Amino acid sequence: MERMEAEKHIVELQTLINQYGYDYYVLDKPSVPDAEYDRLIRELIELEEQFPDLVTPDSPTQRVGGAMLDMFEKVEHRSPMLSLGNAFNDEDLRDFDRKVRQAAGDEYSYVCELKIDGLAVSLRYEDGLFVKGATRGDGTIGEDITANLRTIKSIPLRIKEPFTMEVRGEAFMPKRSFEKLNKIKEEREEEPFANPRNAAAGSLRQLDPKIAASRSLDIFLYAIADLGETGVTSHSEGLDLLDRLGFKTNQERRKCADIEEVIAYIRGWVERRPDLPYDIDGIVVKVDSLRQQEQLGTTAKSPRWAIAYKFPAEEVVTVLKDIELNVGRTGAVTPTAVLEPVRVAGTTVQRATLHNEDLIREKDIKIGDHVVVKKAGDIIPEIVNVLPEMRTGEEKDFNMPEHCPECGSDLVRLEGEVALRCINPKCPAQIREGLIHFVSRNAMNIEGLGEKVITQLFAQELIKDVADLYKLTYEQLISMERMGEKSVSNLLGAIEGSKNNSLEKLLFGLGIRHVGAKAAKTLAQVFGSMDALMEASFEELTAINEIGGKMADSITAYFDMDEAQELIQELKAAGVNMEYNGPKPVSPAESDSFFAGKTVVLTGKLEELSRNEAKEKIEALGGNVSGSVSKKTDLVIAGEDAGSKLTKAEELGIEVWNEERMLEELNK
Ligand code: IVH
Repeated sequence: MERMEAEKHIVELQTLINQYGYDYYVLDKPSVPDAEYDRLIRELIELEEQFPDLVTPDSPTQRVGGAMLDMFEKVEHRSPMLSLGNAFNDEDLRDFDRKVRQAAGDEYSYVCELKIDGLAVSLRYEDGLFVKGATRGDGTIGEDITANLRTIKSIPLRIKEPFTMEVRGEAFMPKRSFEKLNKIKEEREEEPFANPRNAAAGSLRQLDPKIAASRSLDIFLYAIADLGETGVTSHSEGLDLLDRLGFKTNQERRKCADIEEVIAYIRGWVERRPDLPYDIDGIVVKVDSLRQQEQLGTTAKSPRWAIAYKFPAEEVVTVLKDIELNVGRTGAVTPTAVLEPVRVAGTTVQRATLHNEDLIREKDIKIGDHVVVKKAGDIIPEIVNVLPEMRTGEEKDFNMPEHCPECGSDLVRLEGEVALRCINPKCPAQIREGLIHFVSRNAMNIEGLGEKVITQLFAQELIKDVADLYKLTYEQLISMERMGEKSVSNLLGAIEGSKNNSLEKLLFGLGIRHVGAKAAKTLAQVFGSMDALMEASFEELTAINEIGGKMADSITAYFDMDEAQELIQELKAAGVNMEYNGPKPVSPAESDSFFAGKTVVLTGKLEELSRNEAKEKIEALGGNVSGSVSKKTDLVIAGEDAGSKLTKAEELGIEVWNEERMLEELNK
């Protein structure tokens, strides 16, 4: 084809594809069969390959995910990306309304929108072309994730007017894509995402845009950053303008004349929320008129003209089909409810821990009962209560067995404990769970060795204790189900690599009772080597601040066992590192940081750093990071959507910082 002709045809193809894409991804109304769309794309790709200089940045072929990045660049937002105050009940909403009335007078109306549970992003267009997309970050500075956002098909690469503007919205993963993704992850024995929000955030914060491209993300735009320049006078007109420009906005929004209408709208969504194809965590209520928004103004963190109503944790009813028993690493036998699969807060739930027999009695749970299920902290499924009125008389009482379901030994209830325990140290279930613990992320972190592989290796008697992991051979592994050459060599590499881990990982991995990851780190830092720790006396151990008598007892008892001594020797012989390699702990006296000697609690969603990263940095400066707020807490760092810990801090009058303030101090 001649160049001139090609150019014309490329434009025709792009226009058609963009129109079909808009119908499909933005309007959700496909106008041609998928095969036709795919055919046009292929034709365009071929033409563009012949004439590479005719490829434009807004061509639909430019969404596939470009080159890998080294890091995300920082982006300063043109105007800050604020967060929202929360309302949890009608009372809070009426309070909000009173304040609006005081500032705005009697004549005002609201726009209600679904609060999409995803990741806030900002998109910048110059002369109509999509040029930059960023995360919210600390509200002022975010990260440049343009390459990943380009892969979202509902984001127009060129809008319908040549405007220069910044728009804001929520990127998210639809429920169905989330389920598909987790299924694949499970098949590959990778850790599944806890919910669609984490999956969306995880996908957009990947340096390889091909990953985002493979993950069917979507977006709803809900604001224009610099509305003043567009000539519109209300938020709802702004949303209509977004529609006209080709953006995807959420069509469930509603104008409400007063707060009672708002409350009625919210009521409706409490019921219909599970039917939506994406997750929402509340309803956002916004004053419509821009003039009145200006009158109301903003606080440092959030506008006074908007509020987010947060839904209570979703509760659903299902049937408890059975109660299964699991023997844990420490021999504790825990009952688990096997449920009729049901969707709760974004994922399908089919099990819920019942903790112990006392809880089953307390809640009067019988096999066959209808039960109300919710996710605590929106992650861990639990049974709220049973519905005795639904009983048919066929339900069965559950009694804990007297013998270990795995090895048949007598179960005992140790003094002061509610759990029943199998105390047979040779119980295969305990050994298997101990192996799974040993390879887990906070312990030796051996990638490719998940629960399934360990279970197989253990069943085939290829590993009897953790030292055996270091004796596995290529021949043994390749003969296992679903293990190809590549995964075997990766796995052997990961096992070999784990030998260099710093001591605390090994210590935690050994699974000594009461020694958690944090205590393991302290022990490793203080003693420096396994040999020194093994010789430590009860007194030396309890002299350390965080080590109590119970833990010290457990540590000395562990190293007194011949089996433990032998195991350590075997691991040493295999070449496993027995020394602490990390940074020396900074004693508060040595550090001149603000954090030195302070007890800090992190809560809520942090944007810049993960909580773990923040923790490490604070600790490196001599601070102590704790999980709960008490009178001893010096400082609380509250990210977005901080909950009860923040409330408690406020009640106790403890100093509260936002993430930005923390970063400032960390970077000093
Ligand atoms: S408006 C200044 N509208 O909720 C107002 N936010 O704390 C800025 N969100 O992370 C937010 N759906 O990304 C607004 N329809 C919606 C929303 C929404 C979800 C998120 C937003 C932010 C958080 C607000």
